[in-house]
Amino acid sequence: MNILLRGLGVLATVGTISILAFSLPSGGEARGDGGGDALPRLTHKNWQQECASCHLAYPPSMLPKASWRRVMGGLDQHFGENASLDPVTQADILRFLEANAADAGTSQMGRRVMRGMGANDAPLRITETRWFVRKHDEVPRATWSRKSVGSAANCAACHRQAEQGVFDEDTVRIPK
Ligand code: HEC
Ligand code: HEC
Repeated sequence: MNILLRGLGVLATVGTISILAFSLPSGGEARGDGGGDALPRLTHKNWQQECASCHLAYPPSMLPKASWRRVMGGLDQHFGENASLDPVTQADILRFLEANAADAGTSQMGRRVMRGMGANDAPLRITETRWFVRKHDEVPRATWSRKSVGSAANCAACHRQAEQGVFDEDTVRIPK
């Protein structure tokens, strides 16, 4: 009897573990254009510490290298805020952003963003890229300025798992 119960316990544990394994996020592969990471989950200490205090840490693959150079070169006048960093941290974050930028060739997301980009384009905002505008063309204009949203840059207002780097359709809900 004891042995039987223990056996059942082991089976239940194994069952739980395999269910967990299957429900773990797949790093974006399942959401890709067929293969490769759609939107890689990235970790980088300085980036997460310094670029996620006022807004979410925007995915590097949503802007080209030239944009990130502009953003990081103007942190003292960053959309009306002073977001300056010491030179070492600044250079470290820029290196990370460039290595994972839309034109770094490391993600499906980047390839999609680059499709709408002119050769010399270096927008300061993701929300001004042709890719972003097209993806959001069904969002009524008045929605962006709703109190609960604030601005298009407030991704997390609608993308409920944006902080985890998930932007797929299943996790979108526009707040009232
Ligand atoms: C002191 C606050 C603050 C910090 C720190 C900060 N930002 Fe920002 N950032 C802002 C504000 C404010 C905006 C404008 C948001 C809006 O339009 O609603 C913004 C907007 C942006 C945008 C444009 C968003 C869009 O597509 O419209 C990017 C890109 C960006 N920040 C990158 C960064 C990076 C990279 C870092 C880290 C080096 C950083 N920010 C740190 C305040 C900050
Ligand atoms: C007002 C709500 C709202 C805000 C704010 C918003 N989005 Fe979206 N987003 C949507 C909606 C709605 C869709 C379309 C979902 C669909 O295709 O059904 C979408 C689609 C997307 C998609 C495509 C998803 C897919 O699987 O095709 C991405 C990526 C995305 N948004 C990123 C962002 C980023 C990054 C920001 C912030 C810079 C942002 N969004 C801000 C509502 C929003």
